[in-house]
Amino acid sequence: MSRARSYVTTLLTDTGADKTQRRRAQAAQRSRRDHDRQLRRQAAARRREAARADVAASTAVPASGERRARALRTWLPLRLPAHRASSARLGGAYPFLTGAAPGARGVPIGVDAYSGTTAAFDPWQAYGRGELTNPNVLLAGVIGQGKSALAKSLAVRSLPFGRRAYVPADVKGEWAPVAQAVGGVVLRIGLGSSTRLNPLDPGPRPKNVAVGEWTQAVTTRRRQLLAAVAETTLGRGLYPAERTALDVALEHACATSEQVCLPAVVDALTTPPVESAKRERTTVRELAAAGSDVHHGLRRLVRGDLAGLFDAPSTTTLDTSAPMVVLDLSQLASAGMATDLVGLVMTCAAAWLESAIADPMGGQRWVIYDEAWRLLHILPLVRRMQAQWKLSRAYGIANLMVIHRLSDLDAAGAGESEARAIAEGLLSDCSTRIVYRQETDQLGRVAAKLGLARPERELLPYLARGSGLWKIGRSSHVVHHQLHRCATHADPDAERMHQPCAPRPCERFVYSTDDAMTGMYQ
Ligand SMILES: Nc1ncnc2c1ncn2[C@@H]1O[C@H](COP(=O)(O)OP(=O)(O)OP(=O)(O)O)[C@@H](O)[C@H]1O
Ligand SMILES: [Mg+2]
Repeated sequence: MSRARSYVTTLLTDTGADKTQRRRAQAAQRSRRDHDRQLRRQAAARRREAARADVAASTAVPASGERRARALRTWLPLRLPAHRASSARLGGAYPFLTGAAPGARGVPIGVDAYSGTTAAFDPWQAYGRGELTNPNVLLAGVIGQGKSALAKSLAVRSLPFGRRAYVPADVKGEWAPVAQAVGGVVLRIGLGSSTRLNPLDPGPRPKNVAVGEWTQAVTTRRRQLLAAVAETTLGRGLYPAERTALDVALEHACATSEQVCLPAVVDALTTPPVESAKRERTTVRELAAAGSDVHHGLRRLVRGDLAGLFDAPSTTTLDTSAPMVVLDLSQLASAGMATDLVGLVMTCAAAWLESAIADPMGGQRWVIYDEAWRLLHILPLVRRMQAQWKLSRAYGIANLMVIHRLSDLDAAGAGESEARAIAEGLLSDCSTRIVYRQETDQLGRVAAKLGLARPERELLPYLARGSGLWKIGRSSHVVHHQLHRCATHADPDAERMHQPCAPRPCERFVYSTDDAMTGMYQ
């Protein structure tokens, strides 16, 4: 006998009656909610009315303040309208808002970190557009961040645009391969080297300067150089009588020799001419006595430990049309020569180059002081640098000063010293400041001296090698300097550390065709 089967089913469809009930319930709930909201609004409106009436009733806050907790504070929420400003104004608080890469035209540097476009820089063009007040550049960054590489790129990549470069003091010897690669001139100054430079050389006369004016300028330059060298060797300033003795000796040396050199001046200090002594209302003996210390100071360059570098006619003439001129002083620096002597050599070498630098018809040139922190305590040199910085626009030069940190400027001299004041002035006279990575203990000083906003300051310890904060006039950018893939930079330190040696500089080939230019950032 078969058993009856039972099936359990569930209702899958809603009946029309249930739907209606649910809709009614929802409508009732909505209406209750609306009613509650209306009640709340009415209560809030009444409270506001009461508060307004309170405020209207009170005349003023008593002079001694209100006698209650939270006096002078309103219980009403403070509502301010949202602040609106243009991105140019807001750039003051957050500098990287202005996203465009620096310099649409100019020498290609690399990539703008925020916009991803090519970053270019040209101080002459930027000055012409009114973005800069002067063409000078400060480049600061900790060791090995790529400062020299950037300086070399700026110099080499500027050549196709008709610019040239002078490096008055290459203390590491790292600029020589660059100059050789671009067909420039390298003058190696060192003990035992056959190169001799006569710092009293008049140099080539600029075409637009009259002969009389030029003779006067050369005499002034020679006087300044001799005084600077004497002051450095004596370690003090010159007395008025010593200056007179030096002037007389220089005048005598110029009158008696066709090509005036240091030995002639040194000899004339011990045997001043009678006529000159009479003219100065003194005697030969007194004049010789006044010049005695100066004689001993300058003698170092003629018959002392620096003999053979600057005591004879120059063995070379300065080719002012060369794309790059480098004075390689690395031999002296690496031979462990005392700093004051290296400073002396630099002063004489820079004086020799000065006539070329100070030529207003010499075209647009970079003057690059790599490792400038080594030079900043040499007062005569810093004075020369100051003059070059101030007259950069008149000469058509852009000075580039490379240091590690801004405290290098403080190391130029004690608090109130002249060297320190000049070094600080050099910083103020750099409209373009490029800051590579800085250690955290330097951030406060860097931010204060360069007027960095907080986002800029916070960025500095994290910058990668080759990346830097570029403050070009008022605008701020983060730029990654891109080396050409055939590598431009011969790094002597890397070679010594047994790292693979970079190929020699060859960027000039990069600029020889347009194809190569466009292939640069592939
Ligand atoms: N933009 C870059 N991209 C990749 N490598 C770079 C870049 N710039 C520099 N380098 C490499 O970093 C190394 C150090 O560069 P560089 O000598 O220019 O540093 P520096 O800051 O001048 O060092 P120092 O303070 O010792 O003078 C070199 O081997 C160089 O090839
Ligand atoms: Mg370097």
